[in-house]
Amino acid sequence: MADAGATEDQPSIVILTGAGISKESGLATFRDADGIWARYRIEDVATPEAYARDPERVLGFYNARRRGAVADDVHPNAAHLALARLEADWPGEVLIVTQNIDDLHERAGSKNLIHMHGELLKARCTACTGLHPWRDDITLDDACPACGSLGTLRPHVVWFGEMPLGLDDIGMALDACALFMSIGTSGNVYPAAGFVQQVRRLGRARTVELNLEPSEGATLFEHARYGPASDIVPAFVEGLLTRGLAAADGD
Ligand code: APR
Repeated sequence: MADAGATEDQPSIVILTGAGISKESGLATFRDADGIWARYRIEDVATPEAYARDPERVLGFYNARRRGAVADDVHPNAAHLALARLEADWPGEVLIVTQNIDDLHERAGSKNLIHMHGELLKARCTACTGLHPWRDDITLDDACPACGSLGTLRPHVVWFGEMPLGLDDIGMALDACALFMSIGTSGNVYPAAGFVQQVRRLGRARTVELNLEPSEGATLFEHARYGPASDIVPAFVEGLLTRGLAAADGD
């Protein structure tokens, strides 16, 4: 978890990631022209009200995404692998705060990770709140492995209108960090889109956006690198590991 005791010679890094980092692994983003919200309405598939109104439709939406996420041809890409290398080789703490619900960061080797929007490969029981690893479809015929209730399993995913996870630890890490990186996110959804402002208010950390194109919050970042994540993220990590934090300054 977040180590508020980051020191000068062990500067900590917080990395926010979004769907853009998984795009080159074959997983769809949300707001690109071919994104998920171009094909589904949020209010039909990603709110507690939608689940209460038509649980099978919501379960079906996430079952399709889960099948995609565990497909044989979906693997971490060079950007995921570069972030795992940074965590292993950087002298201070590296925390990934991901909005993504896939498991590509874990499969790349990242350990210090907060899934603030939940995890597609876990099921949560609405009766006993038990959490269970789940790689198959979730249906109303499934029984909770813990309490045995039928039809009470939902994806362990944060829906619109629900509270994101880990916000206290994320806030501590943002306040302590010397570098905040934002990768592959459009900067449309709060609280994640506001993290850069929280960091800037303290005036201590460098802020860098790494994205295919300028995000909604692009002007809030001091530095930026634009291009496909699998190109720009490994190059940026190499710079940090060879030249330290100053590598972030060379736009
Ligand atoms: N490399 C880097 N960035 C990319 C790439 C790529 N190959 N492809 C797309 N992008 C960028 C897009 O330009 C866009 O800015 O990734 C961003 C994806 O934005 P969104 O689709 O809005 O995804 P994200 O920001 O993660 O959405 C945040 O919104 O719907 C909710 O819960 C959902 O976690 C999600 C949240």
